[in-house]
Amino acid sequence: MSETTPSAFETQTFDDRIDVDVKIGSADVFAIIKRSLGYLRDFRHLLTAKIVLVLVSIIPGIVIVWLPKIMTDQVVLGRPFHDDEVPFPPYMMPFVNLIRDWSQMEIMGAVIALFVLVLFIFGRGENSVELAQGEDSATQSENAMNAGSSATSGIVGFIETLVHVRLSQHLTNRIRSDLFARMKELPTTTLDDQRIGDAVYRVMYDATQLPSLCHLITLRPIITIVGAAVMIYLMNYSYGDVAPELIYFALALIPLSLITTVPLAPLFRRVEQNSRAAGSATTNALEQSLGNIRLVQSLGGMSEELKSVDEKSQTSFRQFFYVRVVGVLVYFASLAALIGMTIYAALGISNDVIAGRLTVGDFWVIGTFFFGLGEAALGIGTLWITAQGHSAALRRVFFFIDQKTERDDAAGEITFGDSVRFDGVDYHYPNGRAALRDINLELSAGEVVAIVGATGSGKTSLAYMIPGFLRPTRGSMWIDDVDSASISVESLRANATYVFQEHQLLSTSIRENLALAKPDATDDEMREALTTAGAIDFVTDLPAGLDTVLGRSGDTLSVGQQQRLCIARGLIRKTPILVLDEPTAALDPETENALVTALRKPDDARLVVIIAHRLSTIRRADRIIFLDDGEIRDVGRHDELMASDTGYRRYVELQSGSG
Ligand SMILES: Nc1ncnc2c1ncn2[C@@H]1O[C@H](COP(=O)(O)OP(=O)(O)OP(=O)(O)O)[C@@H](O)[C@H]1O
Ligand SMILES: [Mg+2]
Repeated sequence: MSETTPSAFETQTFDDRIDVDVKIGSADVFAIIKRSLGYLRDFRHLLTAKIVLVLVSIIPGIVIVWLPKIMTDQVVLGRPFHDDEVPFPPYMMPFVNLIRDWSQMEIMGAVIALFVLVLFIFGRGENSVELAQGEDSATQSENAMNAGSSATSGIVGFIETLVHVRLSQHLTNRIRSDLFARMKELPTTTLDDQRIGDAVYRVMYDATQLPSLCHLITLRPIITIVGAAVMIYLMNYSYGDVAPELIYFALALIPLSLITTVPLAPLFRRVEQNSRAAGSATTNALEQSLGNIRLVQSLGGMSEELKSVDEKSQTSFRQFFYVRVVGVLVYFASLAALIGMTIYAALGISNDVIAGRLTVGDFWVIGTFFFGLGEAALGIGTLWITAQGHSAALRRVFFFIDQKTERDDAAGEITFGDSVRFDGVDYHYPNGRAALRDINLELSAGEVVAIVGATGSGKTSLAYMIPGFLRPTRGSMWIDDVDSASISVESLRANATYVFQEHQLLSTSIRENLALAKPDATDDEMREALTTAGAIDFVTDLPAGLDTVLGRSGDTLSVGQQQRLCIARGLIRKTPILVLDEPTAALDPETENALVTALRKPDDARLVVIIAHRLSTIRRADRIIFLDDGEIRDVGRHDELMASDTGYRRYVELQSGSG
């Protein structure tokens, strides 16, 4: 099997930064299939029901197929039933024996009655529940997840379709939840690189391929093998003497379709991967422009942005077109095999009818069998090629499910009591940037510590260590003499609240934003926190008070108000450690004063870490940690540090000189 493909289908790099090695081979596809089938374990009752119904739905096909023969031979041509002609299969004999001596009209009535009965139970033709579908991932994904079908309609078909839809929905829901759970637990540094548009695409469109793959691998072989076995039996039983070679010719379609389609498998995977990556890139571009719409509008970048989305969208369409082209290639490859067989079979059957070995009515029966068998053989022969597209999509899902998350790191629990100690801590970001070097520091309960330093000096990086947003790349952080490497993120975050430098609010009500920190917070607790954060006045003035719904990321409030709300949300958790990253930027000196005073209650055993620029805040800290280019330069009280020639003093003088 050749892995070389035309250049238009070459693997391209789209805008993924994490999932960059997208090439998969046949062995990977086997692994993906095996893993996908594991999802069926929890839904085996539905799967069993579906399989039973699939098998039951073979019945109408093998009954109805004989009715046109009786209509033609016995009703229209008026021939009596002859035992020396082609025998009816055993299951038809009770019916045949019943009508054997009836008149032509009576036989017709019986045939119609049987037909109506079969029609009632099994309906005529297929039944399917699906939405209007185009050649795009969105509607196809929607169908992959919510559609169901049955080879029959009637009562059996109705039940089978329902079972099918439920099974697909359960499978999609399970894999989506797995994927989403994993994505939201990714380490902070991975999340920085994971584009939201791409994540949405994987959850919405890639995950939905699970039911399709599961159905393909389980149901298709069962349907085709059982169906083929029944047809071979019937053909042999009734026509074995006349046309045994027809069976072999129909079965030859299995190797023939394999030979013609398998070489296309690597190409199929490649174009499917590219198409999905291009689709993600379009979603990313949309997310990027809509997420920063204010910026885009203000910088007059509307037409540029439109062009970018437009280009991504065009690329995505082109990639999808390639998928279709390869799909058509595969289809024709398998069809070529079928066409050859059909011509041969049609000639053969006609010859036998003319020569009198078969009746005219036999033409229908044998033709139906031959095509049924041929289709079954094609179904098996094209199974592998069909699995390629689904596998390419599911690889993208499993890639993220397999990502190491913060939860995997450690499981220990702790309740902070005395101290946080940094012992020779370095931190390097994944891109190699050394943000912290050899940090040795002990922070104690009851202290208010200020972290000070120029922009980019590593203040946020250092503070991020405390709730475990970042873990030391060298050295260790100890909490009450327990190595934080052994403490779970949940436990670290239960002890420490971090109020971010960039305020982050949800577009829900103020109450819901506060409840995010403490779901069972009472109104009094909320008011208390809002008061300390200097937010109570404007919240009370809002028409709906606590129930006021905010705009996108809190946009309907002023920036200072948003920040105060974030501080209140941090306060409400009442954790033993509180980290405030530049909280005072949007506070006026008076509010800030009140906040620091509230945080400095003498009996408070809380450890408060404030990253601050404003001198009045820094001054009131018990200790100042002065950072310079990732290293601790000075530690001490404001007065002490100002008394000698310290880096801190130069920094303060520079600040006040320029300010
Ligand atoms: N996700 C990241 N990946 C790579 N480098 C980063 C990342 N975040 C920060 N850095 C780098 O690490 C260094 C320290 O950044 P940090 O955010 O800790 O600075 P800071 O002192 O908080 O600055 P500021 O006062 O501007 O908030 C900077 O040089 C920055 O460029
Ligand atoms: Mg910072």
